[in-house]
Amino acid sequence: MTAPVLPDFPWDKLVPYKTRAGQHPGGIVDLSVGTPVDPTPELVRQALADASDAPGYPQTYGTPPLRQAVADWFARRRNAPGVDPDGVMPTIGSKELVAWLPLLLGLGAGDVVMHPQVAYPTYDVGARLTGATPLAADGTLQVGPGARAVKLVWLNSPGNPTGRVLGVEHLKKVVDWARSIGAVVASDECYAELGWDGVEVPSILDPRVCGDSHEGLLVVYSTSKQSSLAGYRAAFVAGDPVLVRRILEIRKHAGMIVPWPVQEALRVALGDDEHVAQQRERYRRRRELMRDWLTSEGFKIDHSEAGLYFWATRDEPCWDTVADLAERGVLVTPGDFYGPTGARHVRVAMTVSDERVAQLAARAAGPDGSVRSAGGNLR
Ligand SMILES: Cc1ncc(COP(=O)(O)O)c(C=O)c1O
Repeated sequence: MTAPVLPDFPWDKLVPYKTRAGQHPGGIVDLSVGTPVDPTPELVRQALADASDAPGYPQTYGTPPLRQAVADWFARRRNAPGVDPDGVMPTIGSKELVAWLPLLLGLGAGDVVMHPQVAYPTYDVGARLTGATPLAADGTLQVGPGARAVKLVWLNSPGNPTGRVLGVEHLKKVVDWARSIGAVVASDECYAELGWDGVEVPSILDPRVCGDSHEGLLVVYSTSKQSSLAGYRAAFVAGDPVLVRRILEIRKHAGMIVPWPVQEALRVALGDDEHVAQQRERYRRRRELMRDWLTSEGFKIDHSEAGLYFWATRDEPCWDTVADLAERGVLVTPGDFYGPTGARHVRVAMTVSDERVAQLAARAAGPDGSVRSAGGNLR
């Protein structure tokens, strides 16, 4: 048996720049990782604590109240009133589902898994884990005559790293096309509550996109970002009940179960819109300060209309940008981590404390490119 060929873990390449940025007298401003930094809301922590007496095994399918809470949330927050609680299942964070979905759907050699051209790397990894072929393509035209081999189409809106939002028409086109070739569409929508400047973020389970049927469709969703509980691993998949039951059978055999206290915390988090609004407001304020800083640094910002990242370019190779900012104690992610077409962009994460965001202004480059950092010139 041969092990799947996985890409190198790219973050190792960023380590020297992290070290360099960490030498800044004011400390590093790390804008490279999308890990939430604000406290987990009290009501979610309380729900976890209240469920800590858990001697028995939890349900892989999720408790009926949790599955109902997910269906209610789709109706209330995502304009998707038709979600069947039978087509809902909690997952151990959404990254594991992204990585294992091709295998759980029974895909393998000869099958093609499509994902966005500039993308979260786990879509590609998931295809490779099961011997399928990943295909980075944003449009159906790029697929050509091999369309029949496409068995799974990943969408990611709002996107990581680009913050791009796909509108109803775009989503509908993809859903219609995938249905015409019998492919499953899996839509990773985990930044949906974080749309900016009034942008609408439709779901593929919205009837304007999919009509009155969820056949062949799955939404992958995570509360890691909107509720600051990435450490809980609280996420879910929802959509076509037939697909969800198929996935469930394998997950039951494999013991891929969300702990019951986390199922309870997830249920409570989804029932409370207030803490999400508060978290959103925190990110909105940071986003404005960071946007001003990026503009003053000469960056052009592309997309970034939703989510927790700026997709920014100074029209130079991304590693030049990374190196320049590291000299000033700021770490960003090179765009080529997300595919070759990202090679002239960097991803700048908003998951950073207010105190660190305030540091950015003090680290601007002077008009002649010289450094005006509080602790002296590092270049
Ligand atoms: C697009 C996308 N999908 C999935 C995930 C995974 O989220 P989690 O595993 O915390 O639910 C992330 C995390 O950054 C992401 O950006």
